[in-house]
Amino acid sequence: MFAANIDPNQSKPALYRELASSLTSLIEGESDWIANLANASALLYHSLPDLNWAGFYLLKNKGLVVGPFQGKPACVRIAIGKGVCGTAAQRRSTIIVKDVNTFAGHIACDSASNSEIVVPLVRGDELLGVLDLDSPKLGRFDEVDRDGLEHFVAILTSSKSRMADRGS
Ligand code: SME
Repeated sequence: MFAANIDPNQSKPALYRELASSLTSLIEGESDWIANLANASALLYHSLPDLNWAGFYLLKNKGLVVGPFQGKPACVRIAIGKGVCGTAAQRRSTIIVKDVNTFAGHIACDSASNSEIVVPLVRGDELLGVLDLDSPKLGRFDEVDRDGLEHFVAILTSSKSRMADRGS
């Protein structure tokens, strides 16, 4: 059984380096995309400080549908272009929201959330979905989180394409 004992008090770049290596070990040899996303959301939720939600929305029939996550039950469907998730999906670029109350159209799934980061999952030119992290802390996410999480999702999406190439 994989056990991640990640020290949340180390520097953020070091924490993200450790998360990347833990994710690589976790998904190695496993071809099930949903299983890998489920473990990835648990890894993030239990390793990054000050989160109240960590998970994925996946693109299905031109809209986002909630996927594997950790945290309270969340909104099931988000249209492309709506909320922070739908806007990041439409732009295919990461959005950091320091204060969700200032983001027009923010979708409040949990009133405890005060800041948010959404990172798109893109494989080649295909949008697969988004990674969404919420925090009760204002201004929780910065450029170090963006770099670390973009690298984290790149590990996930590249593993999916390798598996797709093998036909699994
Ligand atoms: N706040 C998101 C909705 C998803 S929940 O935060 C889990 C948004 O505005 O898209």
